[in-house]
Amino acid sequence: MDPNVQQALPQWRRHLHQHPELSLQESETAAFVCRTLADLGVPFTAGVGGHGVVATLMRGQSNRSVGLRADMDALPIVEATGLSYASVAPGVMHACGHDGHTASLLGAAALLAQDTDWAGTVHLVFQPAEEGYGGARRMLADGLFDRFPMERIFGYHNWPGLEAGTVAVHDGAVMAAGSRIEIVVEGHAGHAAMPHLSRDPLLASAHLLVALQSVVSRNVDPLECAVVSICTMNAGVAANQIPSRSVLSGTFRSHRREVRDLVEASIRRVAAGVAASCGVAITLDIQHGVCATVNTPAEAELAAACAGALGVPVRRDMLPSMAGEDFGWYLEQKPGAFVWIGNGPARPGGELHNPGYDFNDAILPVAAEWLATTARRALAS
Ligand code: NI
Repeated sequence: MDPNVQQALPQWRRHLHQHPELSLQESETAAFVCRTLADLGVPFTAGVGGHGVVATLMRGQSNRSVGLRADMDALPIVEATGLSYASVAPGVMHACGHDGHTASLLGAAALLAQDTDWAGTVHLVFQPAEEGYGGARRMLADGLFDRFPMERIFGYHNWPGLEAGTVAVHDGAVMAAGSRIEIVVEGHAGHAAMPHLSRDPLLASAHLLVALQSVVSRNVDPLECAVVSICTMNAGVAANQIPSRSVLSGTFRSHRREVRDLVEASIRRVAAGVAASCGVAITLDIQHGVCATVNTPAEAELAAACAGALGVPVRRDMLPSMAGEDFGWYLEQKPGAFVWIGNGPARPGGELHNPGYDFNDAILPVAAEWLATTARRALAS
């Protein structure tokens, strides 16, 4: 790799790490990306779907096209790494490594700009608001695929627990679809000593909490995967009063649309049954978030072949994650692949979204090379 790029990669990454911005607030991050692209002589369009930036490189006469994507946003976490380049933004931290993803995509831009041995169009998508704020959807709604046509799209996430620089490529599902559930149980308040005059929402909630654990275990094919987790239950203020209302919330995840729909229908049926048996009213608010990130077969093969060509270890045997990732929105419309690049062995506190997490600078060259190589080969194949 060009020594200038190799040297710049950790500098870019550490600058971004020191100046993290929350989802939908990535103005300085986008400005840094634009300045760096301008220094590299790479043309770009800013303000796509909010703070999104799309850099475009064209070479030769080919009409082939490909997209590469990185996310740019940070999390509302108080950093506890003690690093010299730790966050200077109070309560905001790059705890998911999007600083590294952005730096390596800048590296890919630099590599592709230097290299004359390819033909076609590469769009480099710097996406805001990945952490639950629909950045991918915002860019798509702003015409990403119409304004910057691309036949297919590739991206990666760093993966703690996987050897540094190892590339893991999944056949099919990589990350899960996620939906949020809010459940309101309405009863009738009363004296704790005269329960027959009340309709107890708390008892109904307890039944519901247990009954919802049958949704996956008794409705979903055991060879499929799904998870239902109720994570909050709030009701009552006094030890001698049956409350009037209880509120529960949680999430469900799956890798296939059919399973998601089955889980949702089962949750609704169970809730209606508990409402009837307990004589309370139960209302459900279900919000579907990201769809599943599912690789297409030819692009998964290409992604793995490109990693192999770099001489780094490739894993094809890893199970998908039940975590969400909004890259799935792109793969719903275009063929592509989303891979994991190992961030190094698991260490307590080094997990994604942990205050002690840090992106491993040692994997930046692998990530930048993999992105650039995948773009070149996608245009040629
Ligand atoms: Ni992330």
